[in-house]
Amino acid sequence: MSLYKYVYWFKRIRPNTYKPVILITGCSSGIGLELAKLFAKISNYRTVITARASSIGRLTEQIPAADNVRILELDITQEDSRNSVVNQVLQDWGGVDILINNAGISYRSVIEHMTNTDELLQMNTNYLGPMALIRAVLPQMRTKGRGKIINVSSVSGMLAMPTMSSYSASKAALEGASEALWYEMRPFGIDVSLIQPGFIQSDSFKHVRYTKLGLESENGHDDYSEFYRNMKPFISRLMGLSRTRAEKVAELILLVVQTERPPLWVPAGLGAEFFYYLRRLMPRRLLHPLLFRCLPGVKHWGEGFSQKRKTKFWG
Ligand SMILES: NC(=O)c1ccc[n+]([C@@H]2O[C@H](COP(=O)([O-])OP(=O)(O)OC[C@H]3O[C@@H](n4cnc5c(N)ncnc54)[C@H](OP(=O)(O)O)[C@@H]3O)[C@@H](O)[C@H]2O)c1
Repeated sequence: MSLYKYVYWFKRIRPNTYKPVILITGCSSGIGLELAKLFAKISNYRTVITARASSIGRLTEQIPAADNVRILELDITQEDSRNSVVNQVLQDWGGVDILINNAGISYRSVIEHMTNTDELLQMNTNYLGPMALIRAVLPQMRTKGRGKIINVSSVSGMLAMPTMSSYSASKAALEGASEALWYEMRPFGIDVSLIQPGFIQSDSFKHVRYTKLGLESENGHDDYSEFYRNMKPFISRLMGLSRTRAEKVAELILLVVQTERPPLWVPAGLGAEFFYYLRRLMPRRLLHPLLFRCLPGVKHWGEGFSQKRKTKFWG
């Protein structure tokens, strides 16, 4: 018997051998992939790495097989898919202890160019799906009296930009619900945290979704063409300038997992901190006119398509 075992026997306590079960969504790329690689290496956790059926092959190639790792198919927008994963984890490992809602999509379109179908897909993926998954895992967490819900949000949830309305709305919804959940879960010993990355230096711009009308506008000459032609390179530039990488966000999430009472709001990176304080400290009357002036080429947006530019007063 090793000395440590003897000490534990003597003190009549057991070493903590429990390995919490972590479920991560959207692991085929970006932050999710970095999280999957990170947690797969740590034997203290049992990790359920998930991706949609179309991306699971790509993911499996990058994650070495291990006893403490399961790779499962999960489409966050599909009820059957969510239930199947939650039931399987319950059967194999007794339920989820830590849920990391990371999967997300981002539309880049002005409001007039979004359809109801586009809006629904955005909300289903970034808000309704994660909420349904939270509802599916909470009963087991409440029974155990412990657990963690970690939702990956965005600074867009607190500060919106033109052509990103729907994305901002979905993240603002996630933030509002997570804040309420923080209060609701505190008496049950379940922690709730929101990770708020700003712009990340990553390939995620390749996954941005465009609407049919948006693409036609960008490639043509209409009311909104200048909005798209200026915002697209502007956002890519901000992402390129960012010093925050997906690996760093994954490491921050690991820290939140390891922290006993993590905070509700966790800004990820300097950009996120900057926007947080800008939003909180600058008077609203100044904030929006200032940000409007900073938009690229904004002087020419809507030029030739609006009477507003010729008149000084309404009517
Ligand atoms: N990148 C940034 O600058 C940034 C900034 C702030 C916040 N965020 C947030 O961080 C999270 C991760 O973003 P990322 O940058 O890593 O983006 P990403 O590289 O595009 O990864 C998004 C992941 O979500 C998955 N996904 C999309 N729809 C899904 C669905 N219906 N069911 C399950 N999985 C789905 C994608 O899988 P498929 O391969 O199957 O499509 C992919 O693995 C998102 O919530 C995003 O909003 C990112």
